[in-house]
Amino acid sequence: MADRSKSSEGAHGAEIMPRHVAIIMDGNGRWAAERGLPRALGHRSGVEAVRRTVQAAIDLSIPYLTLYSFSSENWSRPQDEIDDLMGLMKRFIRRDLAELHQNNVRVMVIGERDNVDHELQVLIDEACELTRENTRLNLVIAFNYGSRSEITRAARRLAEEVAAGRLSSADITTDLMTRALDTKGVPDPDVLIRTSGECRLSNFLLWQCAYTEFVFLDAYWPDFGRELLLEAITQFRGRERRFGGLSCRSTA
Ligand code: IPE
Ligand code: IPE
Ligand code: MG
Repeated sequence: MADRSKSSEGAHGAEIMPRHVAIIMDGNGRWAAERGLPRALGHRSGVEAVRRTVQAAIDLSIPYLTLYSFSSENWSRPQDEIDDLMGLMKRFIRRDLAELHQNNVRVMVIGERDNVDHELQVLIDEACELTRENTRLNLVIAFNYGSRSEITRAARRLAEEVAAGRLSSADITTDLMTRALDTKGVPDPDVLIRTSGECRLSNFLLWQCAYTEFVFLDAYWPDFGRELLLEAITQFRGRERRFGGLSCRSTA
């Protein structure tokens, strides 16, 4: 479990800002289709929404923002769409890295590096390395990410430690599992937002979202920005988080 003392957990006060917002950025294709545009333009507009959202998170002093940008299942899309998405990721790092660094944003990337072309891997490493000491916003990009594969990789690594005699199976606790995931050091999301009206996780942060509040918005991702982020936070603030305990209201 993440350290509760530093997060907004266990509260339902109107003042609480989430410490970690995670977003499934969905609906680029439908946004484009509604305008008679190719899907690629939906993805391009989606990058503008990413910029607005990062800025809003900085302005609102949200310390962790995780964005689901490409899933391990998205490889099943047509090759030209995959090429568009890879191209956008490269361009985003090339164009935005200096400004992110200037704004004291730390970039972290979770997911597998397999299948990712070498040029993009180098850019990702550069972004993470350059910004590693930054402290204002931790921007976690889930890229080529799938939660089941993340959990499986973590389990495999721990099994290897046990086989090598460096770890006892009795030492495998939920804390150790948490630290073996790609999100090591990142607190669990307080709120998960998914745009586009779909109400599913699509293999995103399955372990980390055990007690996360979910907010599903009908808007497509390219229409997202500060206003919708605030709307989601307002919904989050109206929730009472119990973590398996009793309602504060009923015990008051
Ligand atoms: C989200 O938009 C972007 C990625 C999944 C990479 P979609 O491309 O899934 O858009 P829809 O869901 O088809 O509208
Ligand atoms: C989830 O969206 C992945 C990302 C937003 C990167 P998808 O559009 O791939 O999810 P499904 O296929 O509708 O579940
Ligand atoms: Mg989609």
